[in-house]
Amino acid sequence: MKRKMFLVLVIVLIAALALSGCGKKPDATTPTPQQPVEEFIKIGSVMPVTGAIATFGVSSVEAIELAFKEINAEGGVLGGKKLKLYNEDNRSTAEETATAFQKLIEQEKVVAIIGSVASSHSLAGAPIAQDAKIPTISPTSTNPAVTLIGDYIFRACFLDPFQGEMMAKFALNELGLTTAAMIVEQESDYAKGLAQFFKQHFEAGGGTVVQTEEFSNQDKDFTAILTNIKAKNPEFVYIPSYYDTVGPILRQAKDMELNAQFGGGDGWDSADLFDLAGDAANGGFFSNHYSPDIDSPEVKKFLASYMAEYGKVPDALAALAYDAAYLMARAIDAAGSTDGTAIRDALAAITFTGVSGNIVFDANGDPVKTGVIVGIENQTQVYKATIQP
Ligand code: PHE
Repeated sequence: MKRKMFLVLVIVLIAALALSGCGKKPDATTPTPQQPVEEFIKIGSVMPVTGAIATFGVSSVEAIELAFKEINAEGGVLGGKKLKLYNEDNRSTAEETATAFQKLIEQEKVVAIIGSVASSHSLAGAPIAQDAKIPTISPTSTNPAVTLIGDYIFRACFLDPFQGEMMAKFALNELGLTTAAMIVEQESDYAKGLAQFFKQHFEAGGGTVVQTEEFSNQDKDFTAILTNIKAKNPEFVYIPSYYDTVGPILRQAKDMELNAQFGGGDGWDSADLFDLAGDAANGGFFSNHYSPDIDSPEVKKFLASYMAEYGKVPDALAALAYDAAYLMARAIDAAGSTDGTAIRDALAAITFTGVSGNIVFDANGDPVKTGVIVGIENQTQVYKATIQP
């Protein structure tokens, strides 16, 4: 009886296979069984595509996808293998960044990771990649501690000591301001670091920080800290946070007529800043990695292909993620394999000219790069200056 049922099953299976097309003669549109299956190389990324800093993640993923599309169209890597991106959304949190790194490494078995954006997020995820010897490059995390996690962790951007210095010198020398207040988010390694470096350079250059106020990332009402700052009457107010809090702070400061010059760091780079701050963003300045107004062949080519693909001007997040994607692809080619240690060694030795400038890594996995100062006029970003390191 059992044997009979087994036979029936086999017959049914054969019939099903024949019907599904296995028995069909190959024609022009059906791939022959001899055709090689396309081979993919899995690259992971961990980006905040939803949550508080979602524009950062959206720009980054768009740019990596664009870079991979271009690289694949030109033959891929390692003699014809295509790059495939596995992005995990960390929903703008450090906890989910750690989970995402784990998932990419253990389940998806990616050979390398691009990410994350916020320094606090990279600090949560990168130790997992380091332990697994999976080479990782953060396009945009600027806090010094990120690459100190280990020798498999690199970044494509400059660091916050330089970024803090850039804005301190700009406020002192270009704007001629000598008193400043700072507004610092307590949960953010990025904000705390940048405030410390700004203060150090502002005071070394002869300025004084007259007031430092702290807030928590859950806060929505900043009138109490803005009142304290207004009482000190500083000429400059430094807010080294991301656009999601900078926007409301600028708005509320303008509403209560806090008449100072406002400035910040790369975290201001989001089209959403203008939705949140409106005209209160006008007159502000921030340090950044790139400007679409820079006249280099790399910027021009990137602008043209990003605009053609997405119909909008790429921000610094996109520029750096695009550079990070190309860096990883070049390193895999130079390594001649997808072995983590071989890719790591190739990255450490790479020389690369990207949209955001030249990249050569020091012993920590950090590049030395120029920065730019961006001004905000009529709710648009205006390129002001390039600053040498
Ligand atoms: N530098 C920020 C950080 O380390 C992230 C960032 C980069 C945000 C570039 C905007 C633009 O947290």
